[in-house]
Amino acid sequence: MPLDASPMDVLRTSVSELALFEPEESKPGASSIGGAQRLTAAFPTILGEFHRRRAGLPPPGERPELSHAAYLLYALLDREPNELDARAMDVALILHADHELNASTFAARVTASTLSDLYSAVTSAVGTLKGPLHGGANERVMELVEQIGTPDAAETVVKAKLARHERVMGFGHRVYKVEDPRATILREWSRKVGAARGNLGYFEILREVEQIVHREKGLYPNVDLYSGSIYSLLGVPHDLFTPIFAASRVAGWTAHVLEEYQDLRLIRPTAKYVGATDLTYLPLEARTG
Ligand code: COA
Repeated sequence: MPLDASPMDVLRTSVSELALFEPEESKPGASSIGGAQRLTAAFPTILGEFHRRRAGLPPPGERPELSHAAYLLYALLDREPNELDARAMDVALILHADHELNASTFAARVTASTLSDLYSAVTSAVGTLKGPLHGGANERVMELVEQIGTPDAAETVVKAKLARHERVMGFGHRVYKVEDPRATILREWSRKVGAARGNLGYFEILREVEQIVHREKGLYPNVDLYSGSIYSLLGVPHDLFTPIFAASRVAGWTAHVLEEYQDLRLIRPTAKYVGATDLTYLPLEARTG
């Protein structure tokens, strides 16, 4: 794959490609638990292989003595994380693993509901997670934090953004109209990981942003507000934030897909047409505009 490709594109294509090598695992049915485990295990390896290659590093190889979270960091960063960093990643992976019928999980279930295979369902999910209104928000949060630079600059930058009717990523949620409980936990981990490094800069800027957005728009933080600051402190490049989300959510996606297979019903919503009716057909050459 091209070394300048987006890691999310690499991940989506790799999941799809894996099905070619694991045709039995990818079939819908009870045996899919093997495919689910293998896919969950494969995500850190796929990401580590790609990221190390583009960074000119050797492939990560196997490290079975490391936990899943520690291996993910090791595979990406080429160094073993300390206990605090590994635990921070573990907490982030746990918090992102499943969240009801979010857009990517729904996409996975729609695909599985046609009796398509597990790998196709997860490929749909990765593609759906890629969008900034779903998985890509924490990357944008950190772009904003870097643009702000210091806590006292937050007010001007955020207010100008809101005045342009732009969304501030990391706020608002389709389901939560209060603070996302995952944000409460990640806020504390952002502080802890920052304090351990003597660098509370990101944390302090985000606290400011939080207060301004709440005051101006009445919006509360979601899971994406603090996660990016933790990954940045751990040394993970921005374009791997959404892939890390995927490396967590794959556990939830595959669990949902297996559940879908057990109680299968084709997901096929109906649409209500609200456009004009009784129109006269116009041949193409008679149409203007
Ligand atoms: N920044 C600024 N305004 C926001 C906002 C945000 N992050 N989230 C919602 N709003 C505003 C909308 O502009 C809208 O205002 P309006 O009624 O004046 O047009 C109102 O709140 C309702 O927004 P809507 O998009 O209809 O709500 P939703 O339930 O569909 O939105 C999200 C859910 C997550 C798509 C939305 O909050 C958002 O875009 N958040 C930023 C992206 C993000 O952090 N995603 C990660 C989600 S975990």
